[in-house]
Amino acid sequence: MALSGDIHGSSREGAWRARLTLSPHKRTPTRNQQRRAGRVGVLNLVALAAGQLLLLVASARAETRECLMCHSAPTISRTSAGSAQESVHVDESVLAASVHAKQQCTDCHTDIETVPHEPTEQQVRCDRCHDIVGQMGEAGAFGSGETQPPLAHAVTAPACTDCHGTHDIRPASDPESPTYRMNIPALCATCHAEPRFRAAYGLASGRGVKQYRASVHGQGLATDGLVVAAVCTDCHGTHDIRKVTDPRSPAARAHIPSTCAKCHVGIYKAYARSVHGMASATGIADAPVCTDCHGEHAIRRPTDPESSVYPTHVAQTCGSCHEDETLQTKYGLPGNRMATYLGSYHGVASKYGDAKVANCGTCHGVHDVLPSSDPRSAVNPQNIPRTCGRCHPGAGQNFALGSVHLQPSRKRDVGVFAVRVFYTIFIAALGGAFLVHIVLDLIAWRRRAGRKRRGG
Ligand code: HEC
Ligand code: HEC
Ligand code: HEC
Ligand code: HEC
Ligand code: HEC
Ligand code: HEC
Ligand code: HEC
Ligand code: HEC
Ligand code: HEC
Ligand code: HEC
Ligand code: HEC
Repeated sequence: MALSGDIHGSSREGAWRARLTLSPHKRTPTRNQQRRAGRVGVLNLVALAAGQLLLLVASARAETRECLMCHSAPTISRTSAGSAQESVHVDESVLAASVHAKQQCTDCHTDIETVPHEPTEQQVRCDRCHDIVGQMGEAGAFGSGETQPPLAHAVTAPACTDCHGTHDIRPASDPESPTYRMNIPALCATCHAEPRFRAAYGLASGRGVKQYRASVHGQGLATDGLVVAAVCTDCHGTHDIRKVTDPRSPAARAHIPSTCAKCHVGIYKAYARSVHGMASATGIADAPVCTDCHGEHAIRRPTDPESSVYPTHVAQTCGSCHEDETLQTKYGLPGNRMATYLGSYHGVASKYGDAKVANCGTCHGVHDVLPSSDPRSAVNPQNIPRTCGRCHPGAGQNFALGSVHLQPSRKRDVGVFAVRVFYTIFIAALGGAFLVHIVLDLIAWRRRAGRKRRGG
């Protein structure tokens, strides 16, 4: 489909992509300034002739059909800098298919009232009719009145038209619209994953977009067409996107659980009651939020071996905090959780890739982690038969005693310590005896062989 109003004139999707990637939005009217130089005498012949005609019937405010007398001509153009011809052709059908079909040209192009008209510098102000200003903020495309820090998109980019288009604007409910849910990651990616654009605006690496595409949300959207999977705007906002370091961003640490809770309500509820959730809610930034365990853009299914919550990766994920001695002292947490786990049968098997043995999460729970002293905790002595019993049928209340997080010391667990010392000595002795046996056997064999050769 030809796209009027869009000077690139490619397919619809191609057009909004091209517009974004090829001409990063600039607030300064550079293009217009450049054009002004070569402006004189640019009205082309067709236009002039039509203009003469129109002069006779010029009304107070020109109607759309009058504008189209010139602008529907496919060849109509203006001379831009370097005297390149730039089309100013407007395809009526595109506008008619857009959400603004009922708007007159002059409703948007307010500085052009009569025809023929002078070349104009003025940009269309969407905020005349749409009160997005309050959301877009201070130094934003149009707004004023926002306090510090400004919205992420307010200062440099993008403008309304970068995300919505110009004459081809459609509602977000239209699958053809770049703002349709399924198209949002691609829309944001036009800048955030575009190396040239990132360089121009000093944006962080586009890794996030790549990770998102491979994530359970990105895959759900792209592969399964699951429109309810999370897209960029669910976690960042739409017209009120903020830097992630801004405490008011929905992607700011303190707001992450409630942001995920927009969709994962059940898990959020369990988390909110857990030792981690309660700590986080009281402002303890050291307590884990959803993204500490799952990642932000790289969220994957627990069954995906690449996931940070895949069974054999859980120890590392929990351990990243629980092995931290500063945190241990700060919150009075017992140390050596990782080491003792890795030294246990479960830990060793897990290290070799066994996803069926117990990990921190299968014993403690993942979203509902509570101290073992809490009767609701899965590792409270009363609940041990059930927790261990899932994999060790018949496990009793004492099943866990001396077998989990075992750090034998002489003072505690004398029995266990003694057993472990005994076993260490016993195994060493056994190994030694075995070696001695082999060596003696070897010597005996050589002697026998020698005797045979000598004919004995
Ligand atoms: C007599 C023919 C003619 C009519 C009628 C006409 N235009 Fe134009 N318009 C032109 C030409 C030629 C240009 C290119 C001017 C240039 O070189 O900048 C242009 C440019 C424009 C531009 C681009 C800005 C610019 O200055 O380059 C807009 C917007 C525009 N016209 C809107 C309108 C609207 C709205 C109407 C109806 C109210 C209208 N035009 C009626 C001939 C016409
Ligand atoms: C919903 C508002 C809206 C309506 C209605 C509208 N335009 Fe535009 N038009 C824009 C925007 C936005 C641009 C992009 C430039 C800008 O941001 O000012 C634009 C650009 C243009 C240009 C410059 C060429 C270009 O693509 O940059 C012309 C010419 C033009 N419009 C003519 C018309 C004519 C003729 C009509 C009526 C048939 C019309 N417009 C109706 C919003 C509108
Ligand atoms: C002259 C007033 C006017 C201007 C200027 C204007 N719009 Fe609109 N816009 C409307 C009206 C009226 C509707 C509702 C149309 C309908 O529902 O039929 C609308 C609808 C929309 C919608 C769809 C909203 C929805 O709920 O479905 C979007 C998106 C939109 N406009 C974006 C823009 C952008 C971006 C600009 C600037 C380039 C702009 N508009 C300029 C009047 C305007
Ligand atoms: C970063 C991209 C982006 C920018 C910039 C942007 N929007 Fe939007 N806008 C969106 C998306 C995405 C939606 C759809 C939101 C949704 O459905 O939750 C939307 C929705 C809208 C809607 C109504 C909902 C609909 O059905 O389409 C209007 C009106 C609108 N935008 C106008 C504007 C105006 C006016 C500006 C400039 C002041 C602007 N937008 C700037 C991305 C953007
Ligand atoms: C499930 C929620 C979620 C989704 C979906 C999501 N993000 Fe993010 N994003 C976050 C969180 C949380 C952070 C903060 C990370 C941090 O603090 O380091 C972030 C950080 C960012 C940042 C700033 C840091 C950086 O890496 O540059 C950008 C830009 C960004 N996201 C863009 C996007 C884009 C574009 C998409 C869609 C392709 C997207 N995000 C999808 C949650 C999300
Ligand atoms: C036209 C290009 C463009 C588009 C499209 C765009 N952005 Fe941006 N975005 C930028 C620029 C430029 C910045 C940096 C602004 C600054 O630092 O002044 C930015 C900043 C951000 C930030 C803040 C990053 C940080 O460091 O904390 C987030 C988050 C973000 N954008 C998300 C999005 C999302 C989500 C979308 C899609 C709805 C989107 N952007 C679409 C250009 C764009
Ligand atoms: C807009 C809704 C929405 C938001 C917000 C959202 N998710 Fe999701 N999430 C989904 C949907 C839908 C699925 C299922 C995708 C599928 O099965 O293909 C999903 C899947 C998941 C999965 C994999 C589930 C499984 O059973 O394999 C994890 C983990 C996940 N999300 C974590 C998060 C985290 C963490 C956040 C916040 C940073 C978050 N989600 C934000 C909708 C959302
Ligand atoms: C302390 C680490 C941790 C935190 C915090 C955490 N999760 Fe999880 N989450 C996990 C682990 C580990 C699994 C894998 C459980 C499994 O294998 O069944 C998981 C599984 C999931 C799943 C897949 C479905 C399921 O129940 O197995 C979803 C969805 C999910 N988490 C969302 C969230 C959300 C939303 C939050 C924040 C409210 C959150 N998680 C906080 C560690 C965590
Ligand atoms: C981002 C860091 C972080 C991660 C990741 C993390 N935790 Fe924690 N955890 C904490 C902090 C901090 C506390 C102390 C909270 C408090 O006391 O208010 C805590 C408390 C606990 C407690 C209660 C300890 C007690 O004696 O009260 C248990 C049990 C626990 N975590 C297990 C886990 C498990 C299992 C995982 C992985 C599924 C995990 N944690 C992941 C930081 C973390
Ligand atoms: C086989 C089940 C099991 C596994 C696997 C396991 N734990 Fe435990 N954990 C327990 C039991 C039972 C207790 C309480 C008795 C004790 O301290 O030995 C406990 C105690 C704790 C405590 C002390 C706080 C409290 O609730 O008493 C923390 C913290 C902890 N574990 C973290 C972890 C981390 C981190 C991992 C993974 C590296 C892990 N655990 C793996 C069963 C397990
Ligand atoms: C997710 C399943 C799972 C859970 C939960 C689990 N284990 Fe295991 N555990 C295994 C598997 C698999 C083995 C390998 C040997 C086997 O099949 O018995 C094993 C082996 C062991 C061993 C060493 C070998 C043996 O059979 O003596 C001990 C000790 C043990 N588990 C203790 C516990 C305790 C205590 C708990 C509860 C706090 C627990 N386990 C919870 C899966 C689990």
